[in-house]
Amino acid sequence: MKKTIQFPEGFLWGSSTASEQIESKGNVVEEGYQKSNWNWMFEQEQEKFFEQRFAENDFWNRYEEDLTIAEEMNFSTIRLSISWSKLIKEDNTTNQKAVDKYREIFKTAKDKNMHLIVCLEHFEIPQVINEYGGFGNRKIIDDMRIFAKAAFTEFGDLVDRWAIFNEALANSAAPMLGIHPSLKENRTFANYLRSLWIIPVAQAAVIEEFKKILPEGKIGSIFVGSKILPRSEEKEDVEAAKLAEMMMFRCYVDPAIKGEFPMEMVEHFKSLDEWPEDVIHEEDFELFKNNRINWVGANYYKPTRIAAEEGEVENFDVTGATGAGSIFTHKRNYKLFTFWAKPGARMNKHRGMEISPETLYARLIDFKDNYGNIEVIITENGMGVSNEDRFRNEEGQIQDNYRIQFFKEHLYWVKKAIDEGANVTGFTMWTYIDNWSWVNAYKNRYGYIELDLETGKRIWKKSAFWAKELHKTNSFEIDEDSLGKELDD
Ligand code: BG6
Repeated sequence: MKKTIQFPEGFLWGSSTASEQIESKGNVVEEGYQKSNWNWMFEQEQEKFFEQRFAENDFWNRYEEDLTIAEEMNFSTIRLSISWSKLIKEDNTTNQKAVDKYREIFKTAKDKNMHLIVCLEHFEIPQVINEYGGFGNRKIIDDMRIFAKAAFTEFGDLVDRWAIFNEALANSAAPMLGIHPSLKENRTFANYLRSLWIIPVAQAAVIEEFKKILPEGKIGSIFVGSKILPRSEEKEDVEAAKLAEMMMFRCYVDPAIKGEFPMEMVEHFKSLDEWPEDVIHEEDFELFKNNRINWVGANYYKPTRIAAEEGEVENFDVTGATGAGSIFTHKRNYKLFTFWAKPGARMNKHRGMEISPETLYARLIDFKDNYGNIEVIITENGMGVSNEDRFRNEEGQIQDNYRIQFFKEHLYWVKKAIDEGANVTGFTMWTYIDNWSWVNAYKNRYGYIELDLETGKRIWKKSAFWAKELHKTNSFEIDEDSLGKELDD
């Protein structure tokens, strides 16, 4: 049966992007900025990147054009991020050239009446920081204060809403697995555990700086909004999922919203003789208590299904999101947890990810019931598809019906959560123009707008017209019989 899904008035619609993924063409050092961790990894291991490509969108020079597309698509919001390596110089002073450029970009978005969301750290850090171990070393807490302070001071008058991290989970796990840049000698289990503490401390430290400069402002952080689900109701699976929930979600979210770290996790690793005793400083507890966020970003692509570990226990993949497998080796004689793929589940086969919009709903209800119904924006959601050329019609337009259906189903469940009282105020999909995605480079295309890599042209896909209407009317139509069916990709 056809149904119209109507969103509340003032609901924010737009898209998310990230500085490293859209701004530059290649290495930026010759333009007077610091080398980023990704510039370094590309120099070292270019073969790891799909088709050996680095970012080519060139938003740095084409922002006017790209933000005009956003305006034409009736965006009421956009989420950008700031490059740490560009804004801050190696001596920790502010780079005026970057300040001027970001002010131009941010003003352009504001002139187009967009609620401007800016994220500080989206997987990119200066290489000098990566060298000393990044989020595995407490030194980053002070360095991040400096970066955040500069951003709040220089752009506080233009930015409507700040986010501290994009997916802290990836900052902890992916460098340890070598999926994100890291020095081999820094890839240790102890450093991974350290990062589970250091990231929330850095988060609280940034909030402390924020309150001094922008006391009335909106400060949040962006988490993986996937609900962590046990394979079965068996005790071992439930326990494994509980541990995974602490290591992949609660250690970042609980301090930020409740002011308390889930110490059960620390106790667990202490009892196994694994917890790095040097990482906790007494003053951290006060810092957590006194510095909380006032909104949450939830990125959602797929559910995280967890099972008790069986058999061999030495390898441990702590991301589950990458599909990279267990390449991190740590000798141990105890069990943690493992990722489980539900047999027969509906899949985005291009990305090897399960499609399960009701799991996003479950996390939104969790924020309502267990986190004081804090304001939530869905800061990422989208469908990455490779080789979309196959779907081009005679006029040359990509007919991405699968993407339209993907969004309809997720939004259907978001609206259900809103109807049940969840405080969800916006949806910034990933991402409106095809972009570069770390080691996957331009393999999986997420855009409403196609990026032609040969010409740099931005070309509207069918979904862009659908989204333009969604943003204008604040509503869309769905056939309820189509929910949960295979997508035509
Ligand atoms: C998200 C990240 O987790 O996934 C983005 O925040 C990323 O930065 C997106 O681009 C899609 O990733 P991928 O690897 O499927 O292209």
